[in-house]
Amino acid sequence: MCQACGAVFPKWSGRCEACGDWNTLVEEAARKAPKQALAARRGSDRIEIGSLSGSTAPDERRLTGVGEFDRVCGGGLVPGVGILIGGDPGIGKSTLLTEIACRLSYEHRVLYISGEEAADQVRLRARRLGLEGAPLELATATDISDIIATLDTSQAPAAVVIDSIQTMYLPTLDSAPGTVAQVRASAQELLRVAKHRGISLFLVGHVTKEGMIAGPRVLEHMVDTVLYFEGERGHHFRILRAVKNRFGPTDEIGVFEMTGAGLKEVSNPSALFVSERDIEASGTAVFAGMEGTRPLLVEIQALVAPSSLGTPRRAVVGWDSARLSMVLAVLEARCGVSIGFNDIYLNVAGGMRVTEPAADLAVAAALVSAFSDTPLPPHSIVFGEIGLTGEIRPVSQADARCKEAAKLGFGTAFVPSRQRKGLDRNIDRLIELSHVNDLLPYCQGNTRKSKRTGRVQNEHR
Ligand code: TYD
Ligand code: MG
Repeated sequence: MCQACGAVFPKWSGRCEACGDWNTLVEEAARKAPKQALAARRGSDRIEIGSLSGSTAPDERRLTGVGEFDRVCGGGLVPGVGILIGGDPGIGKSTLLTEIACRLSYEHRVLYISGEEAADQVRLRARRLGLEGAPLELATATDISDIIATLDTSQAPAAVVIDSIQTMYLPTLDSAPGTVAQVRASAQELLRVAKHRGISLFLVGHVTKEGMIAGPRVLEHMVDTVLYFEGERGHHFRILRAVKNRFGPTDEIGVFEMTGAGLKEVSNPSALFVSERDIEASGTAVFAGMEGTRPLLVEIQALVAPSSLGTPRRAVVGWDSARLSMVLAVLEARCGVSIGFNDIYLNVAGGMRVTEPAADLAVAAALVSAFSDTPLPPHSIVFGEIGLTGEIRPVSQADARCKEAAKLGFGTAFVPSRQRKGLDRNIDRLIELSHVNDLLPYCQGNTRKSKRTGRVQNEHR
């Protein structure tokens, strides 16, 4: 079975023919259908059929006390929910879950099962977080049948953390721990018991080098909620992102800061991401983005330098490089800004990743500002999607974006002109743009000669 895509082959080969990955085929024992299956089927009962108006338990949520986490989950834990948390090694999954489990344990019974670390290591971590007094129950186990035997009773804990699902194994299966078959079977057993007993189940999942939760996507289909815990190396910020949530919104993010004493919640991330900027500098623009229901201001930085190479360099951190090429092409073809011969570096400050098309205009502003060495008007924010003709398209939730900006002391907003009316209620100065050309006067200054370097612009034309 291919460990990357789950395809099954009758013999080994070096390369999986289904997904093209190398060295991913591992021999796994096929699960035989039990002999009595048919006999059992003959004596089966008819299933019970209900209706939508049938009785449902009230939507009772358990708050963990970690506010950022509760918000990402859609307002606390639902009993019986299966939550998968994925992330790179060392990003802080165990730290986050220790914190959540300890906080929750003051209100409910919580069991933390570690398959990777010794109990002492977990205790040490809890002490480091200042939570060693929490009434958390601790166990080290990797055998799923033992764990199930412990959980499948009427005194089951309210929440269980499994750190990590890749270390768990079912002794009745021949495959090694961590293989697709084991991960899938272990998760299935755990989820069955969790649903049956109303346990909120946390599964920690490792991420492969391609960034997917190992044991392909099978796990993501099985659980109710998939959270990714991510962050750039070398930055303190960690972002918890919901990519699937049966009980709440997706696209919601929680922001944490990794400190010497655990993860600290960042409840006002905009202030953090834009606080360290130099407003006099050229090549930066503040983008007012949305992450789920929450507006988030981030700084977009660009650097444009003459290239000594035949094919100029393009380096992008925190944004889509295909999207950068598009914005550059629009600037060249529709606005006559011949910027393409230069090396271009683009960075979203603070280690954030921006995926919204609404960032196009902010990127264009940062690029032109860097190219002409002219800062944008101070205390201004930018948002808008750029179309291929150079037109600027309206984006969603402009109100919330402007409000957040005003709250943080930004007085000027560059917005798409076809945006809904009434935005000016939220911000002092509204500059409406309908084409990228309209933006140029604000970030190009004196187009012939830039004021600091004296470099002549558009010399390639
Ligand atoms: P950990 O939760 O063990 O990561 P994961 O379970 O995702 O592999 O976190 C490990 C990293 O976090 C490690 O490099 C040390 C750092 N860390 C802190 O900076 N402060 C702390 O209080 C803790 C507990 C860990
Ligand atoms: Mg860990």
